[in-house]
Amino acid sequence: MKKTVLVSGGAGFIGSHVTVELIQAGYDVVVADNFSNCDLTCFEGVKKITGREDIPLVKMDFCDAEAVHKIFNDYPIDAVIHFAAFKAVGESVFKPVLYYKNNLMSFLNVLEAAEAKGGCNVLFSSSATVYGEPDVVPVTEKTPRKPATSPYGNTKAVCEDILRDTVFATKGAVKGILLRYFNPIGAHPSALIGELPRGVPNNLVPFITQTAIGKRECLSVFGNDYPTEDGTCLRDFIDIVDLAKAHVYAVTRMIEGKMKEDCEVFNIGTGRPVSVLELINAFEKVNGVKVNHKFAPRRAGDVTAIWADPTLANKEMGWKATRTVEETLASAWAWEKHIAGK
Ligand code: UD1
Repeated sequence: MKKTVLVSGGAGFIGSHVTVELIQAGYDVVVADNFSNCDLTCFEGVKKITGREDIPLVKMDFCDAEAVHKIFNDYPIDAVIHFAAFKAVGESVFKPVLYYKNNLMSFLNVLEAAEAKGGCNVLFSSSATVYGEPDVVPVTEKTPRKPATSPYGNTKAVCEDILRDTVFATKGAVKGILLRYFNPIGAHPSALIGELPRGVPNNLVPFITQTAIGKRECLSVFGNDYPTEDGTCLRDFIDIVDLAKAHVYAVTRMIEGKMKEDCEVFNIGTGRPVSVLELINAFEKVNGVKVNHKFAPRRAGDVTAIWADPTLANKEMGWKATRTVEETLASAWAWEKHIAGK
């Protein structure tokens, strides 16, 4: 029988790509979203890509405990992937209460409903932000976490702990996988789904594509005096489709009872550091467009260099990032042109 996966925040950037991969791998997916930070564009794209008109879409807020219990009762949920959260690092500094309330409450409700059902497989979308500025790179899952540099980052660390404690307390009735994403970028090769930032983008790649297409005048490169080869920060930019596929491996591992521990953690990255300048240059080269940019002061809270050691995910889950940075940057550009109607 087909297994059912609930995807909270499933209409957003990562959620929509994960929904596509799950459906293509043979899962039934229930998409739930409150549309606080996205519209129907990506959900419509998911339907087109998968050729499925019948994907259940539930408009709901995961901070509403009753609604969360209801969805767990309405569908035979074998696993839940929790994306529903606020994610703007800068905004979280000014609105900590909003971030803690939303990101913690929604996850607590998921866990409460999972417990009430007698258990469930829970996949939490965590972030490399929990490593802070690491003393040694690349980071493995054993690299110690560091105090978060923003309330957003702290919500990721706290939710990791809450899941771990819940797995322990329920003696594994609730099982957990924490995926720590590095920097997800790009779009689906169909150009039917991708990132749709509201207002001025905070993240690098949407700012690059919007500058290239003329929506923004100039990209500021935050800091060229870092102790790296070209002076700009180093990141592990991971293709969104590669990242989405990692969720299929993780969910299957949970559902098929292949976990080695009841709560596991995996880095989801490429293992390849790329500097901000290298990324801009690669984007210009592969797409044949100019990205007007200038150097600007460092951005508060940025770390110098972080990239993943993805060996554990490679070996244990059998997952590996496959797309090149060039392919990914071409997909980001195709998506930007698609939404601009060009
Ligand atoms: C941030 C979050 C991470 C989150 C990710 C989501 C932290 C410390 N980081 O990662 O948790 O998962 O967003 O995508 O919480 N840059 C510019 N100009 C710009 C924008 C960015 O130079 O206009 C530079 C930044 O200084 C940084 C790099 O590009 O060095 C990547 O920035 P960004 O895309 O915002 O991601 P992170 O800050 O690495």
